[in-house]
Amino acid sequence: MIYLDHAATTPVHPEVLEAMLPYFTLQFGNPSSLHAYGRDARIAVSRARDEIAGWLGCSPSEWLFTGSGTESDNTALFGAASRAGEKRHIVTTQVEHHAVLHACERLEQLGFEVTYLPVDATGRVSVEEVQASLRPDTFLISVMYANNEVGTVQPIVEIGELARSRGVLFHVDAVQALGTLPIRLNELPVDLMSFSAHKIYGPKGVGGLYAHKAVHIAPHLYGGSQERKRRAGTENVPGIVGFAKAMRLAGESRDIRVRLLEELREELIAGLNAEVGSEHYRLNGHPTERLPQILNVSFPGASTDTMLMNLDLNGIAAASGSACTSGSLEVSHVLKAMQLPDEVTGSAIRFSMGTTNEPSHMREVSRRIGTILRRVRSR
Ligand SMILES: Cc1ncc(COP(=O)(O)O)c(C=O)c1O
Repeated sequence: MIYLDHAATTPVHPEVLEAMLPYFTLQFGNPSSLHAYGRDARIAVSRARDEIAGWLGCSPSEWLFTGSGTESDNTALFGAASRAGEKRHIVTTQVEHHAVLHACERLEQLGFEVTYLPVDATGRVSVEEVQASLRPDTFLISVMYANNEVGTVQPIVEIGELARSRGVLFHVDAVQALGTLPIRLNELPVDLMSFSAHKIYGPKGVGGLYAHKAVHIAPHLYGGSQERKRRAGTENVPGIVGFAKAMRLAGESRDIRVRLLEELREELIAGLNAEVGSEHYRLNGHPTERLPQILNVSFPGASTDTMLMNLDLNGIAAASGSACTSGSLEVSHVLKAMQLPDEVTGSAIRFSMGTTNEPSHMREVSRRIGTILRRVRSR
């Protein structure tokens, strides 16, 4: 099997697992307990927070551990909405992850108004359109750093500067960007930013939310006073320790990882040119403003589900888009928003590379794709 679905999730790095294990066994304490076991766990959580804050350039008090990237997005949106006062309007884009889009739909049911901005054919939103959409009662803009289906990177610095100049909160979903794009929170005009550990070789079920010190969002979960009363619930100590270790590994090796991912991408493209022919496939997304790890490709004449099934049978794990939509035959909302022709949206496959891949795998992947395509198209 060749795993090319790292945007869905990544395997836990062995050093991450090793760092986590003691917190399941010997150091199993509850961080809220006052005895030595509790202290041990509390110190571990505090060290993890310091580590992550250090790598991302924020203060530890601006970092909140959550249960997932989805929870971080929801906390940001509902938390901002409950402090919006008289203001009712949110601006987002049509290509956000469902964790943002479905939260926005729920907010509409609760009486808020949401503008879902279109994107161009490469998946990018225009800063001018964001500007034109702002109203006196806009309290929040939510735009992702990089898209999980096509990898397109959004102009978050320009949008953030605009938001600051208009006194509007700015939330960024950086779940896919973490580990490959530069993030220095104290230099970015961003108020809220969402993260998830399992996209960077950390464990599933642990996320993070950055909230600028001047931003007060209402909690999303009520109960104990964990996370300074901003997120109740006993901390996932092993997960948090694993997240911090994964963050350190990602921080220390970002340049090397990005170089490898670029090489894997180039190898895959070269392989497709040789085995499929450049006129028989099409790349979706932005040619330069993009993540290095995602290659979204359409093979007109071979539908997405047929291709995915054949790829799986031939030992290649890829996806149609976000993990939440794979398994269903729905056309991706991202490709739809990019207004691509039906034959392109209906035949798109997302390959997402990672550190488990080697450049030599990519030629083999292209060979198998070439064989599948010849068979499927000749039917
Ligand atoms: C852009 C983006 N946002 C949010 C999420 C949700 O993160 P989690 O799986 O941790 O809930 C994902 C996961 O695929 C994602 O790609």
